[in-house]
Amino acid sequence: RGPYTAWQGCLIHTISFTEFQIFNNGLLIVDASGVITELRELESSDQMEELKRQYSLQEDQVNRLTETQFLIPGFIDGHTHAPQYPNLGIGLDLPLMDWLEKYTFPTESKMKDTNVATQTYTRFVDSLIKNGTTTACYFATMHLEATKVLAEIVSSRGQRAWIGKVNMDCNSPDFLRETLEESLESTIAFIDFMKQERFTEAGLIEPAITPRFVPTCSERLLKGLGEIASKHKLPIQSHLCENRQEIAFVKELFPNADNYTGVYQQSGLLSRRTIMAHCVYLTPDEIQKMAASGAAVAHCASSNFNLSSGVLDIKPLINSGIRVCLGTDVSGGTSPSMLHAIRSALIAAQTTQINANADVCNLDIMGAFFLATLGGAQAMALDDKIGNFAPKKHFDALVVDATEHADLLDLTAKDATKVDSALALLKKFLMTGDDRNIVNVFVKGRKIR
Ligand code: GUN
Ligand code: ZN
Repeated sequence: RGPYTAWQGCLIHTISFTEFQIFNNGLLIVDASGVITELRELESSDQMEELKRQYSLQEDQVNRLTETQFLIPGFIDGHTHAPQYPNLGIGLDLPLMDWLEKYTFPTESKMKDTNVATQTYTRFVDSLIKNGTTTACYFATMHLEATKVLAEIVSSRGQRAWIGKVNMDCNSPDFLRETLEESLESTIAFIDFMKQERFTEAGLIEPAITPRFVPTCSERLLKGLGEIASKHKLPIQSHLCENRQEIAFVKELFPNADNYTGVYQQSGLLSRRTIMAHCVYLTPDEIQKMAASGAAVAHCASSNFNLSSGVLDIKPLINSGIRVCLGTDVSGGTSPSMLHAIRSALIAAQTTQINANADVCNLDIMGAFFLATLGGAQAMALDDKIGNFAPKKHFDALVVDATEHADLLDLTAKDATKVDSALALLKKFLMTGDDRNIVNVFVKGRKIR
């Protein structure tokens, strides 16, 4: 399975919400198909020579990280909207339902023109990759052709993704609404389109069933999408319990349902491959429904602050066994960077702590790092392939250089261990770094930036 490639230097990854590993003089070996075959701490130079022989590694196949560089798993964005990129940072003066009506729907309607979609999606996908996102769960729009454009761009860049043709057949303006038949037919057409060999051979992109949210989907549409998802064994993504006004509207639309989560459940849309964004206001019954179905939550804290939706406390969800990941939720969220999603999640946890007058915060920086990497992989049910550097997983990774920050840290202080220094560099990067610190981006062993 050679030729192999090796990485030597500081490697950091998580193995659970509360556990991480640092390999100070680590060695990671990747085979020709991009699969990790070795991960270990190098004990001696003899051991290195032995491994080089074993894997027939030439000197130029060994990438040596510098003192200020480290390798981490690629970021996983569990929820984002490619067509909303033009609105990044603007139009955040209204709550969710008015924001959709005034800013979001008009912007999304422009994707009817595939030239506009090509321009918008090219810039958005490149911006995610530049920021270290190796896997993303994308919402496109209801437009079939533009959704294909997004799949082509993501595929051409070599990024890993779920891509959703959005479904919406009611309660939206004429210019952004499909009929029930159009919605189901174009969903099937998109699934068929993704069966082409150039997509299936790479195996990086999956179509995701993407009802926008309950208010814009008729009962028949939701049921139809549930059937398609289970027939084709596809992942599902949508929005749930983001805003109080939205929840009240769902109650009006489905007076006989147990609750908002119950509407998705009765439509067959909650599965182990479902990610519901937001979930700020889940009731105990809804938490139980999510947990029982195995559905995951994308915590989109930046968006929840910007649209004044609310502050999600993820701890009760995690304690109920619900898998949680982070989402940038552009353009409710104001950054395509998962670093911003990490920082926003920390602020949400601190807000929860302050409001509860509690002594400790229930999310720390390494917990947030987990959510942005292995947590994302678990939410997508892709943790057998990605999320950390465990052998047999794919090499989705970032080379980070914290040079600027390292200069100011006294990393040679007598009481500082190498582990302390490496952790300090990672934390500095997570809290204060940006795309300039991301030197290279790899997906399945292939350098995509
Ligand atoms: N709910 C339904 N559509 C959207 C959207 O585009 N963004 C957010 N944040 N919430 C939604
Ligand atoms: Zn969203």
